[in-house]
Amino acid sequence: MLVTNITTGLDRQTKDIVKSTVPLLQERGEDITKRFYQLLFKNNPELKNIFNQTNQRKGNQSKALANAVYSAAFYIDELEKIMPQVKQIAHKHKSLNIQPEHYPIVGENLLAAIKEVLNDSADEEVLVAWEKAYSVIADVFISTEKEMYQEAEKTIGGWSGFRNFIVVDKVVESDVITSLYLEAADGEPCAIHQPGQYITVKAEIEGAPYNYLRQYSLSCAPGGGAYRISVKREDGLNGHPPGIISNYLHSDINKGSILPITAPSGYFTLDSQDTRPLVLISGGVGLTPLLSMLESTIKNQPEREIYYIHATQNGKVHAMREAIQKLDKKHDQVHTYTVYDNPTDNDNKFYDKVGYIDYNYLSTILPTNNAAFYFCGPKGFMQSIYKSLSQFEVEDKDINYEFFGPSEEIKD
Ligand SMILES: Cc1cc2nc3c(=O)[nH]c(=O)nc-3n(C[C@H](O)[C@H](O)[C@H](O)COP(=O)(O)OP(=O)(O)OC[C@H]3O[C@@H](n4cnc5c(N)ncnc54)[C@H](O)[C@@H]3O)c2cc1C
Ligand code: HEM
Repeated sequence: MLVTNITTGLDRQTKDIVKSTVPLLQERGEDITKRFYQLLFKNNPELKNIFNQTNQRKGNQSKALANAVYSAAFYIDELEKIMPQVKQIAHKHKSLNIQPEHYPIVGENLLAAIKEVLNDSADEEVLVAWEKAYSVIADVFISTEKEMYQEAEKTIGGWSGFRNFIVVDKVVESDVITSLYLEAADGEPCAIHQPGQYITVKAEIEGAPYNYLRQYSLSCAPGGGAYRISVKREDGLNGHPPGIISNYLHSDINKGSILPITAPSGYFTLDSQDTRPLVLISGGVGLTPLLSMLESTIKNQPEREIYYIHATQNGKVHAMREAIQKLDKKHDQVHTYTVYDNPTDNDNKFYDKVGYIDYNYLSTILPTNNAAFYFCGPKGFMQSIYKSLSQFEVEDKDINYEFFGPSEEIKD
């Protein structure tokens, strides 16, 4: 897609006006996107079927959207600079089956929110400029997503939208994590995913006013027939209610149940052309995309050194511990390390360190910083790993990570 052609559709004056709103967006961006979501769900309550309402309550989706709007305004002259961000968002949109007809609805409510929040600071000229700019930005998203949907449809076993899958097996992996094995209910093949990708599950719960959509990383190597997702049951800490869909998947979904899912999506994928050491670092249920990378590298790059470091509380919540240890014993290329912060008496021979993964630990166990690093886990964990990798002088180009929710700031 020629983004430069699309940007030239905006006249100089419009671009200058949009750019002049950058400081305001920096200051009031989140107020705008919070108001936008209020208006969106008031005017279009059916969109509650698509948006994760827990992310709305936590406020992290408003932040992610504010950052995207800010970047779009900042780079309105050279939209190609935000294409990596657009692609990342488009993967999430594709996984949620967002369609072109949704864009005018979002545009209308976003402009209404800009008008309301900026009030005196946004005259008619500013609103007209933003309307034009939104249309250009929306077109960039729509054409990027169109390419992705077309690609998904033409892939062998691929599809767009939701497709019914049958749960062919359910395996308890730890006190809190359970895996579901999924095969297409139509008996046809399903697309081979890239290690690190995720699918979206649609849960239609009887009596609930809306559907729920949630993403789950595929935790198996590609090409094994069934997809596997491994779900942590969220018990609801600090007075918050238990997680709706993780509990539903643990309790109400069993062998034989049908789950509608979208095709594999996501930009957090393994570069299997790279032959340098692979370093995988996970915290808690963040192990899922990394397991797919681990299994796939063993299968396809038997010469590549793999360092897999996993941190969790203790053996009770450590999923797939035995399976990973078997891989370590069987394949010389695999070196695994386990870090528990609260080990039980039964855990003695299973961990390498008590505490947390930090720079000192990484620099002791890893032979080099010239490697490909992939990590995933809770927000605090991710920020701490990023900091440790920076201390270890790992180049940013070698650092890959994914948040299990709307994108967040990696630098704490
Ligand atoms: C790309 C991606 C990949 C993912 N992969 C996996 C995976 O492989 N395995 C996995 O288990 N999960 C994964 N997730 C997370 C998953 O999508 C769900 O978010 C998770 O299962 C929780 O969903 P839920 O419906 O159970 O919880 P929700 O009901 O959405 O609640 C989530 C959490 O928020 C808390 N909460 C509720 N209300 C509030 C509030 N007002 N303020 C603060 N906290 C609140 C709940 O107690 C709970 O802990 C992934 C997410 C993404 C984006
Ligand atoms: C130009 C317009 C748009 C921009 C800039 C935008 C931006 C974003 C961003 C930044 C995210 C977070 C992605 C992540 O961090 O993973 C996101 C997610 C999402 N977007 Fe969009 N978006 C746009 C249009 C739309 C439209 C038209 C819809 C459909 C109604 C939509 C629905 C969603 C949903 C459902 C999510 C996931 C939210 C969640 O689960 O909490 N977006 N978008």
